[in-house]
Amino acid sequence: MKYPSELKKGANARLITAYDAFFAALVVEAGLDGILVGDSLGNMVQGHTSTLPVTVDDIIYHTRMVVRGAPQCLVIADMPFMSVEVNTDDALRAAGRLVKEGGATAVKVETHFRVIPAMAAMIESGIPVIGHVGLTPQWVNMLGGYRQQGRGMAAKGIHQLVDELVAIGVSGIVLEHVPAALGTEITRRIPVPTIGVGAGPDCDAQLAVLHDVLGLTAKLPSFMSPIGDGRKGAIEALHRYKSVVS
Ligand code: KIV
Repeated sequence: MKYPSELKKGANARLITAYDAFFAALVVEAGLDGILVGDSLGNMVQGHTSTLPVTVDDIIYHTRMVVRGAPQCLVIADMPFMSVEVNTDDALRAAGRLVKEGGATAVKVETHFRVIPAMAAMIESGIPVIGHVGLTPQWVNMLGGYRQQGRGMAAKGIHQLVDELVAIGVSGIVLEHVPAALGTEITRRIPVPTIGVGAGPDCDAQLAVLHDVLGLTAKLPSFMSPIGDGRKGAIEALHRYKSVVS
């Protein structure tokens, strides 16, 4: 899959993050359907404790590498914190750079009501946009941590945001860390494909962070069951290397 318009309702696409050419090529070899160059690179690659310090230039740098490793693949680049919020012109310029300089086929925006006009301007300018609701990690300081969103009455706010996204014509909507029942309800209700990250099994596509899938991270998000055991394997190999060369 190369274009976000190929993300279809019920198609069960499997997406994953990647941040460099090496892993992007492995993602393609494994037959996955698309790549997000997430601002999670702040935590996974840059050693930050949140995604907040990630810049537009960082995303462009990593998107270029990913596109080199997976030239035929759908590559979605994340709009980092404060690249969309200040004003529509700056947001449009930043989104354009992710496409022109990074080579992304679409951009993803952590969505709150304030950024809807900027997202609409991107779509009107020919940039496919993916929305992102539920847990939006760029709002960690407002949310008071990385907690599940959309429980009880809070579900209404997520439904409203989703409706705004459908109305402006987004190509997909990431639902992150919301109750599975809400993931199912939204997926059944809207014509746009949903992309679940800890939003239950019924979303139209699933997305996960590469380092979590490979088991490289020391702690998995609460909604994820272990899949790979890369951390153990990597440390064992490093120990073996140390003993072999000493
Ligand atoms: O940055 C990222 O990796 C993300 C996904 C977890 C949705 O935004």
